[in-house]
Amino acid sequence: MGNSDILESTPAFLEKQLGNIFWDIDPDAVKESFVGERLREGMRTEQKKTMVIGICVVLLLVFCITAFWHGLTVKTYDISTDKITSCVRIAVLSDLHDCNFGKFQKDLIEKIRHQGPDMILLTGDIADDKKTHDATEQLLSVIGSEYACFYVSGNHEIWSGQSHKIKDLIRSFGVMVLEGGTEIVSIGDQNIVVAGVDDPEEFYPFYRTDRTKGESFYDQLNACNMEIDDSTFSVLLSHRPELINEYKSSGFDLVASGHSHGGQIRIPYIFNGVYAPNQGFFPKYAGGYYQLDDKALIVSRGLSKSVIPRVFNPPELVIVNLIPKK
Ligand SMILES: [Fe+2]
Repeated sequence: MGNSDILESTPAFLEKQLGNIFWDIDPDAVKESFVGERLREGMRTEQKKTMVIGICVVLLLVFCITAFWHGLTVKTYDISTDKITSCVRIAVLSDLHDCNFGKFQKDLIEKIRHQGPDMILLTGDIADDKKTHDATEQLLSVIGSEYACFYVSGNHEIWSGQSHKIKDLIRSFGVMVLEGGTEIVSIGDQNIVVAGVDDPEEFYPFYRTDRTKGESFYDQLNACNMEIDDSTFSVLLSHRPELINEYKSSGFDLVASGHSHGGQIRIPYIFNGVYAPNQGFFPKYAGGYYQLDDKALIVSRGLSKSVIPRVFNPPELVIVNLIPKK
């Protein structure tokens, strides 16, 4: 090792060299660079936060729009039967509650026309007990003259205390009002039996304004049941979906009802309705298709747009296709 090597390895020499290095660094630049990096990092964090909040807001908006959207939908069910020889299309309208779908019901009428039904079943609460019946009149004035239409009462029409007047109004548009009776509808070369019963509220004493003493919901149902046979496809209109035992023990091939308003709040694939009148919370028959032994029950979620929000439960026009079994 030479002298110069010894010199360069001394602490004093190293200190001098390190001092030169640090001397070349501008402390302000270091500070600025450090603060700048911190600022940039802070901005990146803020940007990330804003982006996450933005995505959440958009998702929430999409969820709310989808959940609370109450545009008119069409729900279609197919029923295969060996009691018919060619297809029959039935439209079911329920629980309109005097609501409007476009000016003079244009949207609803267009939807019905687009579906081209062979007949229309009105399964109660078409008129409301707390509104004028302009919306119902506007609808029936058109469909009553274009289609074979059949109607049964719902509880709200009975609650109005003027169900007889509402029925007269409905009849005036050419709609057949069923009160424990049947009608035979000829479609092509085949017949369908359409039967209908009043809402059970009709038979409670307080509301019994125009009924023969002693008649009950069961009398009407039995009367309808007596008029059907096994060889002709039969459909019963009855506002209440929860009277399952009565329907099971009847001879009808199809029961069409409403009243439940789809359980008001739904989460598709999780639960089918939160609450329905006369069924309580988490109702089984809130809306949809139900197989009752050898017969079908179709519960319309209805057309009502009341102040109580419908969640994932838009108003619906129900279409039932009867398809010949091969
Ligand atoms: Fe109802």
